[in-house]
Amino acid sequence: MTRRSLTVGKDRFVVGPWHDDPTVAYLSVAPVSAVLTSRASVERCLAGLTESGYRAAVTAALKPNDAHVFQTAGFEVRERLHVLQHDLSGDLGGSSHPLRRARRRDRPAVLDVDRLAFESFWHLGPSGLDEALNATSSVRFRVAETDEIVGYAVCGRAYDIGYLQRLAVHPLHLRRGIGAALVQDSLRWLRRRRGRMMLVNTQESNAEALALYQRLGFRMGSDHLTVLSWTAPS
Ligand SMILES: CC(C)(COP(=O)(O)OP(=O)(O)OC[C@H]1O[C@@H](n2cnc3c(N)ncnc32)[C@H](O)[C@@H]1OP(=O)(O)O)[C@@H](O)C(=O)NCCC(=O)NCCS
Repeated sequence: MTRRSLTVGKDRFVVGPWHDDPTVAYLSVAPVSAVLTSRASVERCLAGLTESGYRAAVTAALKPNDAHVFQTAGFEVRERLHVLQHDLSGDLGGSSHPLRRARRRDRPAVLDVDRLAFESFWHLGPSGLDEALNATSSVRFRVAETDEIVGYAVCGRAYDIGYLQRLAVHPLHLRRGIGAALVQDSLRWLRRRRGRMMLVNTQESNAEALALYQRLGFRMGSDHLTVLSWTAPS
């Protein structure tokens, strides 16, 4: 099952399953919509999702105005995210760890690292990985390998903006420079392609990732994004 667009009144949503869980819906505001206008459209959207068999919903990372409308319709805050940006200027550093292009057959090992690195709510699963790889027309997917795959990064580019979509290092291989090597590789790739800026979202509670990004020259923006969740009344 893939994501589809759903128009309700003046509002347009994107809906589909949350990663690989058929009972949890993913819900976001379609990029063409300026801002979400109505609590009633969110409620109608939820009614449709319930009829389709979903028991819960998780939103994309929402801007404050959209998040407010979802909250008036009964959604609760699941996670607050910082938005960090890197302007690609200066010395982006050299990779201290060898990396290589990820191949299709690496995907199970990549997903194993992902499962170990993130708490269950954030696990990508095969469909989430596909979504990350297809979110932009241009993508870089790199793995770090010792005897086995110990880290990976997915970075996309749309026009001159890069998006660090996913980064994870195996918990037994932390603090050896692997995360930094993967991020620096993405930054250099984007600069070679005449990118202007790299963006990354990370949970406010993720001290390790925030320390890594700031150490590598990312600056924290003033905006924050919110991921919300909703559970159908029983
Ligand atoms: C965040 C993550 C990718 C870092 O990977 P890593 O390979 O351990 O990072 P590095 O060894 O390259 O660290 C580079 C720098 O980042 C900072 N840093 C990384 N982990 C840190 C920690 N636990 N505490 C403080 N600073 C940390 C340090 O400045 C570090 O440099 P130093 O070791 O010389 O002090 C890893 O912790 C991870 O996979 N976390 C779970 C998944 C995740 O949060 N992904 C990012 C989502 S946005």
